Amino acid sequence: MALVTTKEMFKKAYEGNYAIGAFNINNMEIIQGVVNGAKKKKSPVILQVSSGALKYAGPKYLKAMVDAAIDVTGVDLALHLDHGPDFATVKLAIASGFTSVMYDGSQYEYEENVAKTKEVVDYAHSHGVVVEAELGVLAGVEDDVHSEKHVYTDPTQAVDFVTRTGIDSLAIAIGTSHGAFKFTGEPKLRFDILEEVQKKLPGFPIVLHGASSVDPKSVATCNKFGGDLGGAQGIPNEMLRKASSLAVCKINMDTDIRLAMTASIREVFGEQPKVFDPRKYLGAARDNIQALVEAKIDDVLGSANKQL
Ligand code: G3H
Ligand code: 13P
Ligand code: ZN
Repeated sequence: MALVTTKEMFKKAYEGNYAIGAFNINNMEIIQGVVNGAKKKKSPVILQVSSGALKYAGPKYLKAMVDAAIDVTGVDLALHLDHGPDFATVKLAIASGFTSVMYDGSQYEYEENVAKTKEVVDYAHSHGVVVEAELGVLAGVEDDVHSEKHVYTDPTQAVDFVTRTGIDSLAIAIGTSHGAFKFTGEPKLRFDILEEVQKKLPGFPIVLHGASSVDPKSVATCNKFGGDLGGAQGIPNEMLRKASSLAVCKINMDTDIRLAMTASIREVFGEQPKVFDPRKYLGAARDNIQALVEAKIDDVLGSANKQL
């Protein structure tokens, strides 16, 4: 019933072959939808904030709303900085009360990534905060970094990276990507890489970014009411379940939240053209986000009834 780090969450998730959902937040309705879903399912959850979301809502508003969510629901949650681009943003998140930070140096060459990540780890650990870092590059857009193709994580390098930096969890690239357009053909993930990493780093928590499943029903609703999201495709649920049963302890989802929210709002606008009270469409969006989170906990994560 508190704001916690991910340490205990990941230990239990690893041992229990399930994963914790990490949902991107940037406003009150998203926070309430996610936390209400976690409460209903008695599941721990991670709320994560990108540097763009930090700028959009402001760290003080976000932290105050997250504190309120814990007070009201009693859910165990971690507040995490997603894709921290530099040391200054990491420091801001820690000063604002975040319990976990990601430092994303994956665009730097290897030795620079090691050095920058280690600097963050030393600082964060001295403040009781845990650190996630990334090795390999996801295709698509990661904040302002754009890559045409995947650079899969090298398992041998992963061992060196974890040992030298002292990080608490590692995001790896096995074929997932950010956004709503993850595959043009058959979905394919490199589970051989995940299994090799797990073999070389037994017990170490792995993170999967770009892990939205891009529900075809939400996409269809968006398109029915004026959207243009043809060709959207995500990671199939069975692949995410398999990852959760292996070393993956944290599954990142932002696109699914965005789609659920947008589908609901478009539907209200499309079906009720006289509505202009924001509570009507934002309330519908909040309910839909809660339903999404409950379904994720049951169908993908396996984290129901796993409150700490
Ligand atoms: O990994 C990226 C997240 O989806 C955050 O996206 O930088 O647009 O807030 P954003
Ligand atoms: P999606 O775009 O698949 O939701 O990934 C989100 C993510 O990885 C946030 O860090
Ligand atoms: Zn990500």
